[in-house]
Amino acid sequence: MASRLHAHIGTLRQLEILLAVHQHGGVTAAADQLHLTQPTVSMQLKKLGDAIGMPLYNPVGRRLVFTQAGLEVIASAREVLACFERLDMTLADLRGLKAGTLRLAVVTTAKYFIPHLLGDFCRHYPDIDIDFKVGNRQQIIDRLASGEDDFYVFSHPPEKRELELHEFLSNPLVAIAPQDHPMAGKKGVPLQAFADEPFLMREAGSGTRYAIERHLGEREVSLNVRMTIESNEAIKHAVMSGLGVSILSRHTLSFGGRTGLAELEVEQLPIPTRWYLARLQSRRMSLVAGAFLEYVERAGRSGLLSALIQP
Ligand code: PGA
Repeated sequence: MASRLHAHIGTLRQLEILLAVHQHGGVTAAADQLHLTQPTVSMQLKKLGDAIGMPLYNPVGRRLVFTQAGLEVIASAREVLACFERLDMTLADLRGLKAGTLRLAVVTTAKYFIPHLLGDFCRHYPDIDIDFKVGNRQQIIDRLASGEDDFYVFSHPPEKRELELHEFLSNPLVAIAPQDHPMAGKKGVPLQAFADEPFLMREAGSGTRYAIERHLGEREVSLNVRMTIESNEAIKHAVMSGLGVSILSRHTLSFGGRTGLAELEVEQLPIPTRWYLARLQSRRMSLVAGAFLEYVERAGRSGLLSALIQP
């Protein structure tokens, strides 16, 4: 039920006038500040006092001394006006969001999953434009220099202090082989035995390759690289056709079918990596970018991110 008081408490304008009188110490100064005449200010204050039914202040010499009721009204007036200011800002944001563009640059392992996330985001903000670039890790690092993207998605972000990182989902790199490979379905395949198989490797500059080389290097295991291939999809198909084995992000397998492919259970694999949403601190966070970051964080908390990942 609406408060009985609100019918009597006067208009927002009267509250603004009261605050100005309190802040500037008198009717004349408040009238100057608000570009009103002195009689207008006095009249509005009188109306407000009449509505409240108690004096708001008493003149003492040339000064105004506020009564307890006056001080209570002032405190509430501040809250009411602050609330309207927040509403104003929210509405301005909503107006801004309608016209914005979200600029994303993502590594190839994320290019399957992020569009699903964007689909849901755009249903919430249908008028936003999306600029979506895909590259390998090195290409996305090179894009950082231009500073033109709102966010970057990396599994292995470069060590730059000006990069703000938000970890958001795990990105395991798994061993794969053709379905009829002798290691398929075996438990605990030794890492060295797997590494001896002909291996299909991503190109230099790939974060997947960077993670594989680091993981195996730390274990002093070297690969038998048969072929370098610049695309996750091409590697997947080459493995299906029996050209060799590989290690790829499980996300690259989940989207688009994996018939003919087996995920192997190799010791010390998968390689556990994580995706990060990264942004340059020097770039102003646009309203759209802020909304996207909030959306991703909320989606993480609510379990939506994991639900979007296909088994
Ligand atoms: P990339 O992706 O292999 O295409 O560079 C890597 C990553 O997940 O960091």
